[in-house]
Amino acid sequence: MSAAVRSFFGRPIIIGGGIAGLLTALHLAPEPVLILSRTPLGSEASSAWAQGGLAGSLGDDDDPVLHLADTLAAGDGLCDAEIATRILHTAPNAIEALATLGVRFDRTPEGALRLGLEAAHGRRRIVHAGGDGSGREIMRALITAVRSTPSIVVVEGVEARRLAVEDNTVRGVWASCSMSPVFLGTGRVVLATGGIGGLFHDSTNPLGSCGQGVALAARAGAVLADLEFIQFHPTALDGHGRPMPLISEAVRGEGATIVDETGRRFLEDLHDAELAPRDVLTRAVWNHLANGHRVFLDARQRPGPEFERQFPTISSACRGVGINPVRDLIPIRPAQHYHMGGVAADGSGRTSVKGLWACGEVASTGLHGANRLASNSLTEAVVCARWVAESVAGSPIGVRTRLTAREIPSPDPISLRPLLSRSLGVERDGEILREAVSTLLPLAKRHDAASDPAAVGLMIAIAALQRRESRGAHYRTDFPDRAAIARRSRLTLDEALATARAFACSRTLEEVEQ
Ligand code: SIN
Repeated sequence: MSAAVRSFFGRPIIIGGGIAGLLTALHLAPEPVLILSRTPLGSEASSAWAQGGLAGSLGDDDDPVLHLADTLAAGDGLCDAEIATRILHTAPNAIEALATLGVRFDRTPEGALRLGLEAAHGRRRIVHAGGDGSGREIMRALITAVRSTPSIVVVEGVEARRLAVEDNTVRGVWASCSMSPVFLGTGRVVLATGGIGGLFHDSTNPLGSCGQGVALAARAGAVLADLEFIQFHPTALDGHGRPMPLISEAVRGEGATIVDETGRRFLEDLHDAELAPRDVLTRAVWNHLANGHRVFLDARQRPGPEFERQFPTISSACRGVGINPVRDLIPIRPAQHYHMGGVAADGSGRTSVKGLWACGEVASTGLHGANRLASNSLTEAVVCARWVAESVAGSPIGVRTRLTAREIPSPDPISLRPLLSRSLGVERDGEILREAVSTLLPLAKRHDAASDPAAVGLMIAIAALQRRESRGAHYRTDFPDRAAIARRSRLTLDEALATARAFACSRTLEEVEQ
């Protein structure tokens, strides 16, 4: 690693080069910051793949209070109403600020932002850019801005492997780089590492997103929140391609319907049908598939001939597998899409470890509750990046420590995907979760490529076992009802390991809890 990078000693380090990381860096300017990105900027961030846009109450018929009501309803009793209120009231201004950074949002002929509809939103309030290429366009503008900001140094091809923490305070980052491992001393680290889709066989996320941020924070002793809440998108393109191409909810917002192989619109009896909250729709599609049906999106009438213009990315994915959405039904199935849980963080991204912040999907602020409302995630990242930057800028630089570099294996979840997909999927069951815990426990304690993904999977499985109810995206076949009292969950890696060890010596969760 170059001397220029080493001269950043003590400066903030942002781990991750998606929308959350890039915007945090831009808001920190002119303070020098280092962005560590595993891959070249824009090439593998989930952000760049986002089709849905940003949700914000920008329409004349809308209000942050209405946006909040939809968010709380989708979150199924588990949102943090205070943080949700703050974020959603700030959203319209944060979206306008992106436009001033150069993001070319879709507009009406009169120049107003064009507002789309997605499931469980009571108003048209989704701002897109380039139709279904919103993430790509936002990343383009942010990368341009970052590359022309002299105070930001981006190091691509470097992966953060561990955080150095003493007395619950960040001292630096152990990272890999092409030649040798390196230690970067700093008292301020922002995690902006994205999600966990790479842990699953069926996911719409880049395969390389396998919970690195959750693992870094967990091994540093941080508190994780709501880990069991994983969102499965109901309409991924059902084919051989992995990751699975997403068919945006906006397609249903424009009138596409869901049918089975007989042409029956089997969701007709469901409240709000195709525009029901994502968790509800996902389970309905999942059950229909489990009953031996095939499930399709029918976009032939609506959006019909407009499809290609409105959804160029999806059109191209469909054509890639020989499907013409104007003529053919599009085969779909649910796929892992987003992690509502993550590193417990307040609105400013502060975690339970001093000097550690989290922003974007890796953070669990409480906005999403048990089920994220569509397009609220980019909104959260964009709003919170400013607050995170303000908090980082206002924090002491911290003790400068020099430690020797350490070789830590790069995470590789491939061997765990079958187990994690089976145990942590759309429907969970106590027995299967228990088996997963006993398989994952020894793997999480090893020092190899599977150990970090195993630790993340283990913590999610423990959180899923401890939540003995069904709520939002977490559905337990053995506890199908919602508990009377909604409570968020919190867990550290040490607690998860202790609970897993207790399982190993007992037969039931009741015994462990006694
Ligand atoms: C979609 O476009 O359906 C996905 C949007 C989101 O995940 O928020």
